[in-house]
Amino acid sequence: MPLVSALRADLAAARYRVDHLDSLWGAAAEAALQRGNRVPASRALAASDDPSAVLARLFVLGETADAGALAAALPTLGVLGAVELGLVEREAERVRPLLDLRPYAFVDPHGAGEWWIASDLGELATGAPLRVDHVLGVGGASTTLASLQFPDDVDSVLDLGTGCGIQALHARRFARRVVATDISERALGFARLNAALNAVDGIEFRLGSLYEPVADERFDRIVSNPPFVITPRAPEVPAYEYRDGGLVGDALVASVVAGAAEHLVPGGTAQLLGNWEYRWNADGLERAGDWAADAGLDAWIIERDRLDPARYAETWIRDGGTRPGTPEFERLCAAWIDDFVERGVTEVGFGYLVLRRSATDAAPRLRRTERADAPLDGAAGLGAHLAGALAAHDVVAALDDAALRATRLQVAGDVTEERSYWPGAEDPSVIVLRQGGGLRRELRADPALAAAVGACDGELPLGVIADAVAELLGVDAARMGPELLAEARELVIDGILQPAP
Ligand SMILES: C[S@@+](CC[C@H](N)C(=O)[O-])C[C@H]1O[C@@H](n2cnc3c(N)ncnc32)[C@H](O)[C@@H]1O
Repeated sequence: MPLVSALRADLAAARYRVDHLDSLWGAAAEAALQRGNRVPASRALAASDDPSAVLARLFVLGETADAGALAAALPTLGVLGAVELGLVEREAERVRPLLDLRPYAFVDPHGAGEWWIASDLGELATGAPLRVDHVLGVGGASTTLASLQFPDDVDSVLDLGTGCGIQALHARRFARRVVATDISERALGFARLNAALNAVDGIEFRLGSLYEPVADERFDRIVSNPPFVITPRAPEVPAYEYRDGGLVGDALVASVVAGAAEHLVPGGTAQLLGNWEYRWNADGLERAGDWAADAGLDAWIIERDRLDPARYAETWIRDGGTRPGTPEFERLCAAWIDDFVERGVTEVGFGYLVLRRSATDAAPRLRRTERADAPLDGAAGLGAHLAGALAAHDVVAALDDAALRATRLQVAGDVTEERSYWPGAEDPSVIVLRQGGGLRRELRADPALAAAVGACDGELPLGVIADAVAELLGVDAARMGPELLAEARELVIDGILQPAP
């Protein structure tokens, strides 16, 4: 039996799964692991000879193990096979892990699934700063981007900067073929192993920078968690391959956006993560919007977070495994701050970009930039929500105000309204519309908008509702109407109002 198939059989037999590991080490140890502390999990597994405990001690916690215990945990592959596959190295009667290998569970519109994902051992396991060619495992950014992927079936997807291959694996669930590229041969090695280990075919792996490996090709979709971390271009600052594309400032993300236009079929979409610099005279989110507009792409950009230069530097220096309070940390922090000063950077934004090439080569019709109310943190169903929002945009963009007035709308099922009153007051001081799913928006509504939304039950045309609300509130319908229609357009894109069937 080929070595990878033997490993797959052994991992399945060991029930090396997320729920089984959770039951072995418990919720508190799991939470400690998320914080970078392996001690509680190590204590919980120490006395267990469950095959999954042996595997997790090695491949999650980075501990050595007895060769006999590994042989029992991987009876088909055996210790020799594990050495040959590059999972461990043997030192007399002990084995030492050479990679991180752990189960990863997910839910998407095709249902629940679980894979095993191999990557480099992280700082938690090695206790040392990361090597510059470190290959990242599945992190929070990876799961968020995975959950944003559109769930409709397409022919082809490009995963640019595939790393351990996680986006390519997800994309393959909805695409006939996936091309996964990376500048790192080591990353492609892990990605190939992960596809084989999980018996996922139809992914082609190609080595090269940015769009070089797909020079003349176009795709239905592009997905990328690119190496967007802004890094000073100074010789003494490590350039980690997994996060640093080697350009100045946020130019790497700008080039991924610019290149998307050349590599999408008409109507094709790209979904990216990115950073954008706020400069003393330029709003970062609008700069990102300009990258897309300059490339002739529709753009919807959601900013999830914003950090000042010092916080940004601290976050990424720590991420590389350098601890605060050390001379190295201070030296790196100074390099980051100097670099930001050079370009007049005041803050750095982080977020998600949804881009679309027009189906007709018409000028871009969508430019939406916004700051998220809530973290997206990988919630299921987000991809479908975003795809629905783009479709809803196209529907309302095709309606002039007269046509929109004639449209019957209804409130989405996950929307609730919350009213706050000053004690004793008859009228609410604040009205908030809350969305339960999707982007979980919280929108302040004035009494006119709240009344109009409340009346949208799919029966009356929006124009009739707008006129009735104006009369009820005693305001001029001609003045209030256009504003209400503009707000209704946004609520349709947000998924708070929907065209009635
Ligand atoms: C942040 S990791 C993303 C990994 C994975 N796609 C995910 O979502 O977790 C970025 C990846 O881009 C790769 N990379 C760095 N520079 C690149 C370049 N110029 N062209 C293509 N890939 C690059 C890195 O090797 C790394 O695997």
